[in-house]
Amino acid sequence: MNSEEIMSLKNNVIALILQSKSVEELEELRIKYLGRKGEINKLLQALPELDPNQRSSYGTAVNQAKNQIEMAINEKTKQSSTVKINQEFFDPTVPGKPAPTGALHPITKIFHEVEDIFGKFGFSIATGPEVEWDKINFQKLLLGPDHPSRDTQETYYFDEKKLLRVHTSSVQIRYLESHQPPIRIVVPGRVYRRDTIDVTHLPSFHQIEGLMVDDKTVLTDLLGILEHFAKQLFGAKRKVRFYGHHFPYTEPSLEIEVQMENGRWLEIMGCGMVHPQVLENCGINSKKFQGWAFGMGAERLAMLKYWIADIRSLYAGDVKFLNPNLC
Ligand code: DAH
Repeated sequence: MNSEEIMSLKNNVIALILQSKSVEELEELRIKYLGRKGEINKLLQALPELDPNQRSSYGTAVNQAKNQIEMAINEKTKQSSTVKINQEFFDPTVPGKPAPTGALHPITKIFHEVEDIFGKFGFSIATGPEVEWDKINFQKLLLGPDHPSRDTQETYYFDEKKLLRVHTSSVQIRYLESHQPPIRIVVPGRVYRRDTIDVTHLPSFHQIEGLMVDDKTVLTDLLGILEHFAKQLFGAKRKVRFYGHHFPYTEPSLEIEVQMENGRWLEIMGCGMVHPQVLENCGINSKKFQGWAFGMGAERLAMLKYWIADIRSLYAGDVKFLNPNLC
């Protein structure tokens, strides 16, 4: 055998070693090639019969082949035995790999928190349809035909009578029409507006409406409960302020702002005493009963609470927002 033939033999043996499937198979290869009566020893035994000036290069080639085959067998034996150990040895006390878990979306969490805070005051949860009648979404809330939010720029209409609700205030009407006081509800839900998408606007977002109607319902209770709510949600040190506003369906009307870390104020909701005409429109005696109501933007609350700078990231499908450690 010349050096080239030795190299080709060695390559073939290494290929067999790499393809071997078990420790036993490797042991057979070791005996066949490296054993006392193995192929490599046979080659070495032929050394004395060779022409003296060929001996050195032949000897070197055989020894190199031997070393490389040995290395390949050792390496492969290590790998195969770890596989074998893993297959045969199961230790039930070894801690398992943590499984990735899902988490609630920030808006769902906001819904739950708001529901909990008002739940403690006896408010229950009500819902209503997203496809709504113009009458319920607008007219019964005293939003006449000339009101700016009725412009088709603002509202998605199906036809003259049917639309996608622009606020959860529509559920106030539905609930008042089907229940008599005392009423205490919060209404989480999705709303739609023809807004251009930017860092604070989306054409579809979420609101939480609140409504209380009883025979001794007063504005100061509304202010107290909303201040309590803001401190529960954002922390006791947060400052809130109220200032006069206008909504056709409340009289008086107010807006509430929360102070952010940087000192600036951000509006989080509108509220007020339910206009007596709204109660009458729904068959409730406004001489006997009064109510207050509020409507807040859930995305705004989430952005404030979880430090989310861009509203769009809430819906970008990025799992970072579903990370339980973040929210
Ligand atoms: N519907 C108003 C909006 O979408 C929010 C609102 C204001 C709701 C005052 C109310 C309310 O119930 O009393 O901007």
